Amino acid sequence: MNNLEFKHGGNIYYFAEKFNLSLSDIIDASASIVPFPIPEFIKDELCIHIKDESFRYYPERNLNKLKETIGSFHNIDPSCIMPGNGASEIITWAGCEAAKYKLNCIPAPGFVDYERALNCWQAKYFFEELPKNNFKNIKQPFPIQPKCDVLWITNPHNPTGQLWDRKSLEKLIEDYKLVICDEAFLSLTPNGENESLIPFTKKFDNLIVIRSLTKLFSIPGLRLGYMISSSIKCQDLNNLRDPWPVNSLAIQAGIKLLNSKKEYKKWIRKIHTWINVEKQWLTNELKKISQIKVHESSTNFFLIQSKHSLKDGIDYLSRKKILIRECSSFRFLDDKWARISLQTHEKNQKIALELYNFF
Ligand SMILES: Cc1ncc(COP(=O)(O)O)c(C=O)c1O
Repeated sequence: MNNLEFKHGGNIYYFAEKFNLSLSDIIDASASIVPFPIPEFIKDELCIHIKDESFRYYPERNLNKLKETIGSFHNIDPSCIMPGNGASEIITWAGCEAAKYKLNCIPAPGFVDYERALNCWQAKYFFEELPKNNFKNIKQPFPIQPKCDVLWITNPHNPTGQLWDRKSLEKLIEDYKLVICDEAFLSLTPNGENESLIPFTKKFDNLIVIRSLTKLFSIPGLRLGYMISSSIKCQDLNNLRDPWPVNSLAIQAGIKLLNSKKEYKKWIRKIHTWINVEKQWLTNELKKISQIKVHESSTNFFLIQSKHSLKDGIDYLSRKKILIRECSSFRFLDDKWARISLQTHEKNQKIALELYNFF
C-alpha cells in the first residue's frame, strides 16, 4: 500500500484487489461512512440529471444555487459559503488561509489532512496532545489551550469521537487569530448540531467552519463539502481555486438533499437512532473481550486499545473481509490502537464475533 492510502481509512479497493473480492463483499469499518443505501430521493435526483445530460455543460461557475440552498439551510448569507470537492478540498483552502499566520496548532491524535493542507502552503505548525480520557457519552469542554495563532478543531474529534462543548469553543475564537473548526461528523452525531459554531460565523470573522455531506448520506464518491466563514475569506480563497471545483452531479445532489427538509429530518432521525442503538450494542459486546479497552465516543466511530499490538488482529479481520482502521499513523497513538466505525446490526455482529474469535 502506498503512503497516501495508509494515512486514511476506506482502502477498500486495495483489499478487494488483494483478496480478489468485489467491493460489496467487504465490511469497511475503517472509514466512518453511514452504512445504509443512498436515500432514494437523492438517487432519483441523480438519475434525472444523468438523463437530461446536464453534465454536458460546465457547472455554473459561481455555484450560486448551491450556495443559496446551503445558506437558507443554515440561515447564513450565501456570500459566506464556499462549496468544495468534499471537506478535504475545503481543508486545503483553510490551510491556505492559515498559512498567512505565524503558527498553527493541530491537536493530536487528529485527522491527517490538516497537516497535508498546511504542508501545501509551507505553513508552520506543531502538534499538541489531546487527553484521551474515557469520557461518557456527553459533550465536554475543549481541554487544551496551546500557544499559537491558528487553532484547528475537529468536532466531534476524529479518531476519539469526543464532542466539544460549544461554549468552550466560543471562548477560543476570542483568544486566537484564526479558528478552523471541522464539523464533518457533527450532523451525524446525536445532539451534535447544538455544538455547531456555524451561528458564530456571523459574529466572528476569524472563524472558518468546515462541513461535509459525504458521510451522512453515504456519498463519498460524489465529493461534496463546504466552508462557512466571512464573505471576504470566501471570496479571497475562491479567487485562487480551479474554475469548476464541484461537479454538476454533486451540485444537484447537494441542492436536492438540503432542500428536502422533510426527508432530511427523517434521515437524520434514522441515523441518530442507529448510532445510539448500535454504539451501545457493539461497545457492550466488545467490552466482554478482556484483552481490549473500549473507549467512549459521541458518534459513529470509537477507539479500542490493547496492551499488545493489534496488527495481527487487524490482519485476521481483513482475511475475514472486515476492515478496521489501524492507528499507528495517528500521532500519539500506535499499533495498540484501532478505530472501528459502526455498521448495520448484522455487520456489527460479524465484527464482534470475529474479534472474539481472534482473542
Ligand atoms: C474529520 C474529517 N474531516 C473531513 C474529512 C473529509 O471529508 P470529505 O469526504 O467530505 O472530503 C474526513 C474524512 O474522513 C474526516 O475524518
